[in-house]
Amino acid sequence: MVDDRPIGIFDSGIGGLTVLKEIHALLPHEELIYLGDTARVPYGGKSKETVLRYTLNNVRFLEAQGVKLVVVACNTASAYALPELLDHDNPPVVGVIEGGVEAAANSNGARIGVIGTEATINSMAYQNAVARLRPGSQVLAKACPMFVPLVEEGWVDNEIALAVAHEYLHEFQGKVDALVLGCTHYPMLKTIISSVLGESTILIDSARETARIVSRTLDRLNIACQPRQNRPRIRFQVTDSPKRSMEVARRMVGQVDIDDAEYVDIT
Ligand code: DGL
Repeated sequence: MVDDRPIGIFDSGIGGLTVLKEIHALLPHEELIYLGDTARVPYGGKSKETVLRYTLNNVRFLEAQGVKLVVVACNTASAYALPELLDHDNPPVVGVIEGGVEAAANSNGARIGVIGTEATINSMAYQNAVARLRPGSQVLAKACPMFVPLVEEGWVDNEIALAVAHEYLHEFQGKVDALVLGCTHYPMLKTIISSVLGESTILIDSARETARIVSRTLDRLNIACQPRQNRPRIRFQVTDSPKRSMEVARRMVGQVDIDDAEYVDIT
């Protein structure tokens, strides 16, 4: 069976475009709808109840557009809401935690670091998943809330970014074999993070790993699309001003051919 319906992807804001970019690179024939909840971003410091409510709202909005699969491209939403989504009657859902943790569990060393927003780290979702997939490993976890505004500002390779990365991560130096970048924005800071931790720590990009899981899920459910002649559309929907979103998006994902940002009212 082939299924030409779009895949819906959402994040609290624009950062999830790092996930969209990887999905598009791996599955170029799939039509994608990206929803950035830019009116309510950031989720990373909010309560579980609030994140859950926003997440369900986003899923319903994408579902109403006829998507065949929803990718929760936000680590915070995945950490707090995924179990709930999987328990209820929703379209098939993929989060961003599974892929990163699988890659960490398959890496050589047994000392695994995880960084993310306060909510993601407080939820223990990554720590529990590592313990499940790689029992006996040692997990070090830390919230790095300043990384998100740095990336949104485009400050990914200056001295301030380096100082912030050093402040957060110096305690990991020599102590982790693999570090899971458990937030949509952190892949943009790979170079700086590597310069603090050194080459011996492998950085795991959950965006890339999630694309792999999406591909696997489409195959498992037999809902991949047919190769197309024309390039499929990538729709980009936001819940606040499209202009600023487009600027940040261009900075984050460069040349990906997305439609202009379109304002949507999801309430
Ligand atoms: N998208 C969020 C995440 O991956 C980061 C931004 C936010 O706090 O909403 O956790």
